[in-house]
Amino acid sequence: MTATSLPAAEPVLEVDDLRVELRTPRGPAHVVNGLSYTVGPGETVAVVGESGSGKSVSVLALLGLLPARVATVTGRAVLQGEDLLTMSSDRLRQVRGPGAGMVFQDPMTSLNPVLSIGKQLIEGIRAHSDVSKEVARRRAADLLGEVGLPDPERALDRYPHELSGGMRQRVVIAIALSNSPALLIADEATTALDVTVQAQIIDLVERLQADHGTGVIWITHDLGVVAGIADRVLVMYGGRCVEDGTVDDVLEHPAHPYTRGLLGSLPDLAQPLVDGRVPDLTTVPGLPPPPTDLPAGCVFWPRCPVRSDPRCETEQPPLAVLSPGSGGLEHRAATWCESGADR
Ligand SMILES: Nc1ncnc2c1ncn2[C@@H]1O[C@H](COP(=O)(O)OP(=O)(O)OP(=O)(O)O)[C@@H](O)[C@H]1O
Ligand SMILES: [Mg+2]
Repeated sequence: MTATSLPAAEPVLEVDDLRVELRTPRGPAHVVNGLSYTVGPGETVAVVGESGSGKSVSVLALLGLLPARVATVTGRAVLQGEDLLTMSSDRLRQVRGPGAGMVFQDPMTSLNPVLSIGKQLIEGIRAHSDVSKEVARRRAADLLGEVGLPDPERALDRYPHELSGGMRQRVVIAIALSNSPALLIADEATTALDVTVQAQIIDLVERLQADHGTGVIWITHDLGVVAGIADRVLVMYGGRCVEDGTVDDVLEHPAHPYTRGLLGSLPDLAQPLVDGRVPDLTTVPGLPPPPTDLPAGCVFWPRCPVRSDPRCETEQPPLAVLSPGSGGLEHRAATWCESGADR
């Protein structure tokens, strides 16, 4: 879906200064550090960044899925007018489903091992819409067919352990889509699936967006998926957004040295196109900072091959607007680097 073709509308989700601190044996871990972004109706925001950058924790925090004894979450996350972060747990349970559906990295975390697939899907559908068991069962079988599960009728009577990992992941996707949520969060949802099934699921999500205006947060390492489905990209590093903008702006004119590293477009890390195709996100040399000990200044400076400004090591660069960006959507980057400041 192209958000720019839609009339301006209230965002589905508005995240403002989201912070997550986890208690760990090594002291407080600052895992998410002031994340602000919006997801518009029908819009897909891809979240990229290497392992440990806080992608999963940031979305788990939105849905109240981090244990309160370990996690302190602050900020605002307004979903269709209601702040998820101050909601009662009863209200949050009602909102998950028709408000927000989530597909996790590991499908077993969201399936109940002792209930059949059908029971889990049908219960989910009936918890949020007033339909008979028969209607819900038919809808469940249709959905399983749509996510590419062979013989959906029979699959309804099977248990999670009787399915392969890829099939379980498709069931979790079917459950997340079953109530046509206003917001869908997909955390590496299709990474383990083969490309044909992945394409089928992306089609299904795009249809849901066209029919219901669903906003999507898609966490992925796969640049091909980003280029194919996202309207906007948000690049995370050290729990911060270091750059965001339209897919064209971020992929074609990356401003932050970290983004340029990921895309292989830093001169000394140059990656040629492979058979004319966009390569996968590359590996930036070095290790990310531990969230218990983030550097002062720009969070990327200890690994940055082009740092030159004296402020890099001492002053945190603000996420500044570089240009109005394509389609009137802002292109922002948090860097003292000239590639950001000059644009
Ligand atoms: N329960 C926990 N207790 C302590 N630290 C945690 C916990 N869960 C996550 N972390 C830490 O929080 C940071 C962010 O983790 P997160 O899972 O959000 O990363 P990610 O960007 O999703 O990575 P990946 O791409 O590997 O999925 C990491 O440093 C991780 O070690
Ligand atoms: Mg993750």
